[in-house]
Amino acid sequence: MSVFVSVKNLVKNYGDFCAVDNLSFSVEKGEIFGLLGPNGAGKSTTINVITTLDGCTKGTVEIGGMDIEKHRTEVKRLIGVVPQDIAVYPFLSAIENVRFFASLYGIKGKQLEEAAKEALEFTGLADKAGMKPKHMSGGMKRRLNIACGIAHSPKLIIMDEPTVGVDAQSREHILDFIKILRDRGATVIYTSHYMNEVEQLCDRIAIIDRGRLVACGTGQELVSLVTEYKSFKLKTKIPADFDEKQFIKNTVSLPTVHAVAVNGDVITIETTLECSDFSDILEHIRKFRLPVISVVSQIPDLDSVFLTLTGHEMR
Ligand SMILES: Nc1ncnc2c1ncn2[C@@H]1O[C@H](COP(=O)(O)OP(=O)(O)O)[C@@H](O)[C@H]1O
Ligand SMILES: [Mg+2]
Repeated sequence: MSVFVSVKNLVKNYGDFCAVDNLSFSVEKGEIFGLLGPNGAGKSTTINVITTLDGCTKGTVEIGGMDIEKHRTEVKRLIGVVPQDIAVYPFLSAIENVRFFASLYGIKGKQLEEAAKEALEFTGLADKAGMKPKHMSGGMKRRLNIACGIAHSPKLIIMDEPTVGVDAQSREHILDFIKILRDRGATVIYTSHYMNEVEQLCDRIAIIDRGRLVACGTGQELVSLVTEYKSFKLKTKIPADFDEKQFIKNTVSLPTVHAVAVNGDVITIETTLECSDFSDILEHIRKFRLPVISVVSQIPDLDSVFLTLTGHEMR
């Protein structure tokens, strides 16, 4: 494997606000690389810099060994972008949209026609070629957005939260498309705030939070960063006068407890791996007059990786 995208010490400030804070990572050729982080983590900002839509405050980005500032035109030819906000023309038909975007990359004539048809077929929209996006469902528009980004067969496909607002079936289709694109040789950068999706899809993942890199590696490597801890989720009924701050403070002070998060009526508690008896913790929970409706013990996943490494849940 060789490095295809290299992001080094990337900083992006908006006035006094630092949206991307010294971010470095590299993407191997032919992999699906996930940028995982909560809303506002800086994913789109990073993508906008990589795709040359926006400049950065500091740092460098290389794609295919070329600096994106110095080789802007060559770099742009390698990239296909599927933006977070659907960017298709409502009054052009599906095929006219795909033709338009592919033509921006210099594809013409018969090749353009074939590329547009193939992109629509690939995204399951072949029978909707004449339909205008204004008549399409959210999932169909998302698929058209993808068709427009990939028709010119880019070597690097960058997708920014392409499954937001789509139904479960379209989502599965989209995830399948992305794997096929990778298997055909493309390199993919995929951003999402959905842990499961990223865990299921991506070969390697960079977790970002507040513009900073939290950790980077395969799903397994990330989990092994935190296997000193295990967790359990407890379903309860939070009373109206519940003092969440005090509860969290007291609970984390228990010797076997490492981290606590309260999310609605679900309390997630991380304990040391050695903790083989939860009775002290349950006793403590009862003192706060919290009923124990159910308890599920969990093998660490990316949720717990995020909680452990950042100290807060990804919402
Ligand atoms: N043009 C802008 N001006 C000022 N702040 C911005 C701008 N674009 C994004 N931000 C801020 O930068 C942070 C990161 O945003 P963004 O990259 O969109 O996050 P994500 O895509 O991970 O949800 C957010 O706090 C957002 O409000
Ligand atoms: Mg975003």
